[in-house]
Amino acid sequence: MRGTNTYASLTSVLEHYKASDWSADFALVTGDLIQDDTPEAYVHFCNRLSTLGIPVYCLPGNHDVRALMREALDEPPFHYCASFESDNWLVVSVDSCLSGDAGGRVSDEELDRIDAEIAASPAEHIMVCLHHPPVPMNSAWLDTVGLQNGAEFLAHIGASGKVRLAVFGHVHQVYDAPHNGIQIIGTPSTCRQFKQGSVEFAVDDNPPAYRQISLYTDGRFDHELVWVNQ
Ligand SMILES: [Fe+2]
Repeated sequence: MRGTNTYASLTSVLEHYKASDWSADFALVTGDLIQDDTPEAYVHFCNRLSTLGIPVYCLPGNHDVRALMREALDEPPFHYCASFESDNWLVVSVDSCLSGDAGGRVSDEELDRIDAEIAASPAEHIMVCLHHPPVPMNSAWLDTVGLQNGAEFLAHIGASGKVRLAVFGHVHQVYDAPHNGIQIIGTPSTCRQFKQGSVEFAVDDNPPAYRQISLYTDGRFDHELVWVNQ
């Protein structure tokens, strides 16, 4: 992708994590796992991620092919757009994709599913995960392919009073800001990054990255962005 071998850069991110002194209970991949619409690309992804030895929760992005992705991730350690509970937290995965559109929207049916999962869970704290940013990135071209109903979505999930953070992918750059009591967090990609604040599409020279997120029983959370210099 634009001069970067994405298989190699993903591998470097995974190896960086494995060599670190921080270990995760699960991995979360917020979409755009592939770009060439082939089942083989998901096989490559699974072969790489299975080396982590932990559950891998994946949700779709605009470059994914839902049917292929669901089929490729149909058994542990992989989970397709699945929610789960851990230590007083509910982690909710959301499908924000629109077929044939780089931008996204959370459908009424998806909002109903989120409501039902929150209502059924005894967890006191919630992390919501989706592909598209629910807030503007202040980048003209990126904001034409954001989440169409971001404000509505945030108001909807905020009504529970339990959502502490919402994390997303898609934008290939850092974002970290509060919004009505919910911390909104975007993480750069495992390949090339997009230039922040750019009016037109542009990449920058930042390296691949991932984010370490720690969720505590009392609702506190920490997170740290890790740049991976190859
Ligand atoms: Fe995307």
